[in-house]
Amino acid sequence: MSIDTPPISPQQYEVLHGGGAEAAELAKQRISRRRFLRRSMLAVWGVSATSAVAGALFYLYPNLSGGFGSVLTVGKVSEFKASKPSEFKLEIQGVYHRPVARTYIIHLDASTQFLLKGDDLKSQLSSENVVKDKDGSYWIALYQKCVHLGCTVPFRDNCVSFKCPCHGSHYNVTGEFLDGPAPRSLDRFQLSIDGDNIVVNTGAINATVAHPDATTRLVAAPGVDCSA
Ligand code: FES
Repeated sequence: MSIDTPPISPQQYEVLHGGGAEAAELAKQRISRRRFLRRSMLAVWGVSATSAVAGALFYLYPNLSGGFGSVLTVGKVSEFKASKPSEFKLEIQGVYHRPVARTYIIHLDASTQFLLKGDDLKSQLSSENVVKDKDGSYWIALYQKCVHLGCTVPFRDNCVSFKCPCHGSHYNVTGEFLDGPAPRSLDRFQLSIDGDNIVVNTGAINATVAHPDATTRLVAAPGVDCSA
């Protein structure tokens, strides 16, 4: 849009160059029109700039929105019954989906048999964001997104594990890689226990849990076939 002075008619030219009250009035109108156009342009620019800044802030600091990307309370400790890995059942024991946080809350019973011991176990629990509770049970917040190409991975009771419907990546109850095209184990968030609440920091993603081997695997593969 141009803010140049609009063209004038020959009659207007005559009046302007002839001087007098009529000329003054016409000149005043032309100045107001120019001012109006300038102000309109500034207003449009202001609205666009404000929207752009708000959008940039949202992407840079998603936790400002209070949704995914922020620290979220996903439920009370009592809502998540613990289970041994071989007895997990979605929303009943061991594994719970919380879509608002895009997470699966994993609650392993204190009697869980890990494949590692001592300091090896301690350091692996820490590098996999596994939180030990005061009652001896263990908590993990797994990101629901498949690390292959991003599909949401469902937990399958019949497989006692997570199996991606897109290309078949397969992860055990702690999110550790079992088989398929995924380049690593499932990512996980920081989880904390605040009094009675389970709190997940969905802005802090640990994407460093590699394919496990005999020196790093925490939990044995499920003893059921999950080929389909
Ligand atoms: S997106 Fe999950 S296996 Fe490809």
